Amino acid sequence: MNKVLVLHGPNLNLLGTRQPEIYGHETLEDINNALYEQAALGGWEITCRQSNHEGELIDWIQAARLDGTAAIIINPAAYTHTSVAILDALNAFEGRVIEVHLSNVHKRESFRHRSYVSLRADGVIAGLGSQGYHAALDAVIEASGSS
Ligand code: DQA
Repeated sequence: MNKVLVLHGPNLNLLGTRQPEIYGHETLEDINNALYEQAALGGWEITCRQSNHEGELIDWIQAARLDGTAAIIINPAAYTHTSVAILDALNAFEGRVIEVHLSNVHKRESFRHRSYVSLRADGVIAGLGSQGYHAALDAVIEASGSS
């Protein structure tokens, strides 16, 4: 079965209560549950993980190189703007990479305009809230021709 990994970076465990005017009222669990349903309908196996630790995210990206994962959908959160290490890990992954941001980072502070992950991402979605994850998953499923 086709496998997709969804990674959520630091502070995204607080969704629902963290600056809801920017990030919305849905919790991470709400988002993940909806993604599990969408993946199941498309016949995909999905794993959703969140970490506040850069190294843990890197370990999961490295594991995805070896376990048949076809695509990674990643919201690296603040690491987007700082992490060469996450970029390097993604560069070593051969499948598709889609970068998602709940907010439109380009409308915000200038330090959020730079993304290291975008240097690797096949697609980038920002500003659509949780819908961005669904658009990313649709793109992954449709590109594989398995929808
Ligand atoms: C974010 C945008 C980042 O700049 C920020 O640090 C986050 C979340 C988003 O989803 O909009 O934590 O990635």
